[in-house]
Amino acid sequence: MNKQPIGIFDSGVGGLSVMREIIKLLPYEDLIYYADSANCPYGTRPPEEIRVLAVKVAAFLLEQGAKALVVACNTASTAAVAHLRQRWPGVPIVGMVPAVKPAAAMTQTGVIGVLATEATGRAPVLLDIIDRFATDTKVLIVAPPGLVERIEAGQISHPETTALLRQYLDPMLAEGADALVLGCTHFPFLRPTLQKIAGERLSLIDSGEAVARQTRRLLEQAQLLNPQTLPGQITFYTSTDPIQLAPVIARLLGYTSIPLVLQNCG
Ligand code: DGL
Repeated sequence: MNKQPIGIFDSGVGGLSVMREIIKLLPYEDLIYYADSANCPYGTRPPEEIRVLAVKVAAFLLEQGAKALVVACNTASTAAVAHLRQRWPGVPIVGMVPAVKPAAAMTQTGVIGVLATEATGRAPVLLDIIDRFATDTKVLIVAPPGLVERIEAGQISHPETTALLRQYLDPMLAEGADALVLGCTHFPFLRPTLQKIAGERLSLIDSGEAVARQTRRLLEQAQLLNPQTLPGQITFYTSTDPIQLAPVIARLLGYTSIPLVLQNCG
């Protein structure tokens, strides 16, 4: 069982920002990545619908022999991770939440921003974290429409993407925000653009590394770490046209090309 791959999924290419952290921390693990880009964005859907999509993808990854699952998507995690754990109690499943806690701990001005999807922005889980860890902090939550789609199209530094970000960041900066939580896994790919807009005034915080550490912890506990000492293999699947998506994935990961297999989960 420990030689089986780790299954990682997202509504699209965003989860690759988590996957690259997992590769750094667990280089000998084989990985299967599923980009549900035909159904992206998840963030504009109601939670029940997100849950149905997440179950289908999780079931597919487990059919491929995944020994553990990483829900590399804040939106799917907030809507579905509890349900997935209930459905597959024997499988280590890592979920994620926006990194509000470290942002609230580091802010000097007492104002932080959260850049998320619409669904995550109104999720009870997020509001609960804010209640628990950011009581004395002003938390500005924004969900720019169409931003996830732009990243799916590979337009991470397109002038229109920059203009959209500026529209949401400028008011936040004017209110004194000094930390920005990247509460959607698509957004770490915007780091250079965000930094260009905000300069050094704004610390950008995402949960990718924490998710990789939690993945390692759960595999260790379950004695599921892969004993091989060769670099792990990655297999990519998507529900959308692989010809269009493969170059975007390759560019985001800094690879020259990737083989991508079309697999509809129904
Ligand atoms: N990457 C996803 C997240 O972390 C969501 C993108 C979407 O709306 O599908 O929230």
